Amino acid sequence: MKATDILYEEHRIIMKVLQCLQKIVQEAEDKGELDKESASTAIDFFRNFADGCHHAKEEDRLFVVMQERGVPREGGPIGVMLMEHDDGRSFVRAMLQALDNASEGDQDAIQKFVTNARDLTALLTAHIDKEDQILFPMAGQVLDERAADSMLSDFKQIETDAGGERHRKYIQIAKDLCKRYQVPFVENSRIETIRNEFGAN
Ligand SMILES: [Fe+2]
Ligand SMILES: [Fe+2]
Repeated sequence: MKATDILYEEHRIIMKVLQCLQKIVQEAEDKGELDKESASTAIDFFRNFADGCHHAKEEDRLFVVMQERGVPREGGPIGVMLMEHDDGRSFVRAMLQALDNASEGDQDAIQKFVTNARDLTALLTAHIDKEDQILFPMAGQVLDERAADSMLSDFKQIETDAGGERHRKYIQIAKDLCKRYQVPFVENSRIETIRNEFGAN
């Protein structure tokens, strides 16, 4: 198991919740009503799993170690990735701001939620693709085995510091949301790889 394999598998889970989000916003547009429970579950997932579990590993460890090994931050791929993380946070913040009024049927707030959710989906889909196709292979080239091993234990430490249950909890939340919106969840064999590291179910 390589450290970037963990990030790769986390991407698969984030993509599944983005698929659910598309269904949530489509339903909101069709019915003129936003399902508050599902919408706030999705927001919670993006804040605490996509940002808390995943971006923290990238920003606090992967990008730092890649920079130490000569991959430039400014004007290079790391700078772009960091900027996109910030853009994603802004979209999620705007979704949260619109949530209460949108759930009460305010059509402008529904439109604000929908627009920001679609912008988030487009951003994260392209972002994940760039990391999978370009950044992670680049990490594989600059990290020796020792650096990769120590990153893996740092990743475990990040989850331990967060109480040890967060990763498991949010994978279950993603799974439940997928069930609700009939999105086939990540195959068990894939979840198995992260379960071994973080005790995810
Ligand atoms: Fe990222
Ligand atoms: Fe990522």
